[in-house]
Amino acid sequence: MYRTHTCGELTINNVGQRVTLCGWLQRSRDLGGMTFIDLRDRYGITQLAFNMETNADLCQQARRLGREFVLQAEGTVAERSSKNNKIPTGDIEIIVEKLTVLNESKLPPFTIEDNSDGGDDLRMKYRYLDIRRNPVRRNLELRHRMAMLTRNYLSNLGFLEIETPMLIKSTPEGARDFVVPSRMNPGEFYALPQSPQQYKQLLMVAGMDRYFQIVRCFRDEDLRADRQPEFTQIDCEMSFVEQEDVLNTFEGLAKHLFKEVKGLEFGNFPRMTWHDAMRLYGSDKPDIRFGMQFVELNDVAKDHGFGLFDSAELVVGICAQGCAEYTRKQLDALTEFVKRPQVGAGGMVYIKYNSDGTFKSSVDKFYTQDNLKAFADRFGAKPGDLMLILCGPAMKTRVQLCALRLEMGSQMGLRNPDQYAPLWVVDFPLLEWDDETQRYYAMHHPFTAPKPEDETLLDDPSRWGDIRANAYDIVMNGVEVGGGSIRIHNRTLQNKMFHTLGFTDESAQEQFGFLMGAFEYGAPPHAGLAFGFDRLCSLFGGCDSIRDFIAFPKNNAGRDVMSGSPSPISNAQLNELQIKVDLK
Ligand code: AMO
Repeated sequence: MYRTHTCGELTINNVGQRVTLCGWLQRSRDLGGMTFIDLRDRYGITQLAFNMETNADLCQQARRLGREFVLQAEGTVAERSSKNNKIPTGDIEIIVEKLTVLNESKLPPFTIEDNSDGGDDLRMKYRYLDIRRNPVRRNLELRHRMAMLTRNYLSNLGFLEIETPMLIKSTPEGARDFVVPSRMNPGEFYALPQSPQQYKQLLMVAGMDRYFQIVRCFRDEDLRADRQPEFTQIDCEMSFVEQEDVLNTFEGLAKHLFKEVKGLEFGNFPRMTWHDAMRLYGSDKPDIRFGMQFVELNDVAKDHGFGLFDSAELVVGICAQGCAEYTRKQLDALTEFVKRPQVGAGGMVYIKYNSDGTFKSSVDKFYTQDNLKAFADRFGAKPGDLMLILCGPAMKTRVQLCALRLEMGSQMGLRNPDQYAPLWVVDFPLLEWDDETQRYYAMHHPFTAPKPEDETLLDDPSRWGDIRANAYDIVMNGVEVGGGSIRIHNRTLQNKMFHTLGFTDESAQEQFGFLMGAFEYGAPPHAGLAFGFDRLCSLFGGCDSIRDFIAFPKNNAGRDVMSGSPSPISNAQLNELQIKVDLK
């Protein structure tokens, strides 16, 4: 037997017992007469003690060992004279009688401690060492726990976990596909699934009624802190349900996770229409941990001779409570912030509501104190507050103001990662216009049903932008953690949708024929949703980056720096696949 206990479980109650532990050498301390080794495994750290007087040979042996050596130590549990109340095993140590080196280790390139001296790139290159560190290990444990809770919860509700293929047909909608060449079918390619969307709908046609899968998805898109090229969804689908049933079921799952993992209880999650979310927060994933809702100002701002406001489609602002004392330098920094290309505003107007009741603004030339009071009234501002205003084309300006609102929320300490503010955003538009290609795209995907009352608008191309979908997102702290929709289960409506999206009968048949064919054999009304599991975990773990919750993530260039992928393949492999690579 390699070990009798782990390095995290021995306490004062075990004093006197003979034990064998295995683990990695975290640190050793040589105090002359005594040598101590901290032995670490997944479960904790236990101190090994070697006494020069009673066992000089063993003590000498212990002194020669390096960091991260793999050891087996046999000995007796003893009470420590100087206790460490920071770790659960801190009351005891092992008086070692036999020490075996199970394996040696090169000196690791960074310290395996909570606060490592290794930079991001180095830790990713040696991710297997990084995972030995507590923070990363804890994140993976959290992920495991959330996956188990999810499986049990859904299984108890009658959901079946069913695997769907990883090598599927490429479809042009959505993000870019990762493709895999087929050796047996030269010139033909599989795609890796962006999600199991079509398969889960087929499972509903197949009568499976309630499906889920904790499943890997692949999207070849630009990467950010909350986006990986391969990521995991909790993917779900249900038959014979309405939107209300779906929202209640998955709100239930979210609440269950909050209760079990964070000990938090919630009432009903608020619901907000997409339209209101854009109007009040400039985002379809509003962070409602704090207020600072948008206030529209066209009527108070226009016709005072300030050309920028006069010519703008929308003048809109936020009120930062208690920030009137912001210095010139702070205000300049905010202006620079909104002018950065990522935000893209032309500039920012501020109005300070001084504590003496007077106003100071960057547009004093155009507005009297009374005029500025009218702005303040519209904001509901009080002396001591700071009003920040942007103007321009309506939607663009809202999105820019959203960035400013989030920045102010951060500066004012209103975005506490330990506070959670979930909500549903509902009634998304069905279609989204793309200027570049001059056509409409499905905002969610082509299988999402329009609201029945908006269905007739499909017949009038001039109204396509107004059609609302039975689509919903679950949002927490400004992060879209999941989304789904009621599906179209009627072939005629689905055909109409494809035509709206610019497919001919032939191209729709070619891309989606198998799904459309299946729909002719009794497709039940169905709907579903998918959570972004990595995002959910990082949110529960209080982190912004989903990479910290993925064992072996890719970097921002989509590379796995540890294994060195992607990489060229041999000419022999290329020949076998009948692929010619011609890099210009
Ligand atoms: P959607 O495309 O909204 O819906 O994806 C569902 C959720 O997956 C997460 N997500 C990602 N997480 C990490 N990295 C990425 N690159 C990434 N892309 C998406 C998000 C998102 O909310 N088939 C539909 C669901 C349905 O209609 O049932 C779908 O995939 O948290």
